[in-house]
Amino acid sequence: MKYNFSKRTDHFTLPKQWDSMRVAKKLEKETGKKIIHFEKGDYQGSDFETPAHILKATVDALEAGYVRYDPGPGLPELREHIAHEVMKDRRPGTKPEEVIICAGAKNALTMTLLTLLEDGDHVIFPNPGYPPDEVWAKYANAKIDHTPLNQADWQYDLDKLDAMITDKTKLLIINTPQRPNGQIVENPEAIAEIVLKHPNLLVITDEIFSQVIYDGKKHKTISSIPEMKDRCIVIDTWSKTYAMTGWRIGFAVANEEIITKLSIFLQDSITNVAAFIQRAAYEAVTGPQDWTIEKRNLLEKKRNLMVEGLNSLPGVTCMTPPGSFYCFPDITGTGMKSQEFTDKLVVDAGVAVVAGTAFGSQGEGFVRVTYAVHDDDIAEGIKRMKEFLS
Ligand SMILES: Cc1ncc(COP(=O)(O)O)c(C=O)c1O
Repeated sequence: MKYNFSKRTDHFTLPKQWDSMRVAKKLEKETGKKIIHFEKGDYQGSDFETPAHILKATVDALEAGYVRYDPGPGLPELREHIAHEVMKDRRPGTKPEEVIICAGAKNALTMTLLTLLEDGDHVIFPNPGYPPDEVWAKYANAKIDHTPLNQADWQYDLDKLDAMITDKTKLLIINTPQRPNGQIVENPEAIAEIVLKHPNLLVITDEIFSQVIYDGKKHKTISSIPEMKDRCIVIDTWSKTYAMTGWRIGFAVANEEIITKLSIFLQDSITNVAAFIQRAAYEAVTGPQDWTIEKRNLLEKKRNLMVEGLNSLPGVTCMTPPGSFYCFPDITGTGMKSQEFTDKLVVDAGVAVVAGTAFGSQGEGFVRVTYAVHDDDIAEGIKRMKEFLS
C-alpha cells in the first residue's frame, strides 16, 4: 500500500547528527568491538548519574500520587521557582505565568516555532546550529536564513546579521553556550541593538548549557536586557544541568501571551509533563546544588584533557570551549573533509564523532567531540585517533 504522507513531512529524514551513533551501534553489534562514543550529545558512564536526592524525590512523588493527568503549563511551585529564582538575573521580574514546563528544551523549541511561524516568515538561524529547529521551521513553511558565525571565534557577524533582517524576519535564534562549538555568545548587547531596530522581531534564546560554563565565567543572556524582556523566548532544560537527559523536562519563559498559547499547544498535544517528573525537577532546582558544581568542575578537567589530547593529534587544532560538553576541533590539516574523517574514524579506529556539517555548511572542516565520558575513554579515544592519523 502506498501511504500519502503530508507534504509538510517531505523533508523528514533521520537526524543527521545521529548518523555516526547509528553506525557505531551497528558496528558494536556486528563486531563486538568497543567503540569510543564521542558522538553522543549526552552524559556517559558512572561519573554522571542523576543525583540520589532527585531519584528519591521521584519515588516520593510516585508514592504521594503524582500519577494522574495534570493538564496545564506545569506545577505551580515549579513555575514559581523558575520565575523567581532561576530567572532572577536572566529575566528580572519574571512572573510564574510567564513560565511553561515542557518535555525537554526540544519540545519547547518545537512548540514555539510551530506557534510563531507561518508561510513566508523568515527565521535567522546560526550556521552551524541545532538541526531540529530547522525541521520545524520548514514544517511551518518558513524560510530559513543562515547567518554565518565567524569561524575564528564562532561569534555572530554583526554586520551580516544586521544586513539580513527584513520586515519578513520574524525570529532570530541564538544558542549560548553554543552547540556544536561550546562558545559563549559574547555580545548580547550588540545583538539586542540590532533586534530593537525591528519592532516585531522576536528572539528564541536557547540556553540549555546555561549552567555548564567554565573558567569562572558566568552565563550571559540577551533576555536580561530590559528592552528585550518581552522580545525573547528563553529556553532551558534539566537535561544538561542535572544529567537528566532521559527525563524529558525543560522549560520556556516568555511574555504571558506567548506562554498561554504554548500552554494550549502542550495541553492539546502531550497534555502535560509527567507530574512526578516535575516533582523531581522541583527537587533538582530547590535541593542542594553541590552535584552541579562538582560535575562542572569534573567536566572542566575533562574538557582540558580532551583539548590537550586533540591538539596533540597531527592535522588537528582545537580551541578551548568555555561552555557545554563539546569540543569542535578543526580537522582541515588532516586533508579530509568532515564526513570522510567521521566515516573513516569510526570504521578504522572505532571512535565515533559527529561531522561538523551535520550542523550546517559552516561546520565543514570540523567535527564535534563530546567529553562527558569517562577519563579512560578520553585517553583511549585520543590514542586510537593518534594511530588513525599517523
Ligand atoms: C542546542 C540544543 N537545544 C536543545 C536541545 C534539547 O534539549 P532537551 O534534552 O532538553 O530536549 C539540545 C540537546 O542536546 C541542544 O543541543
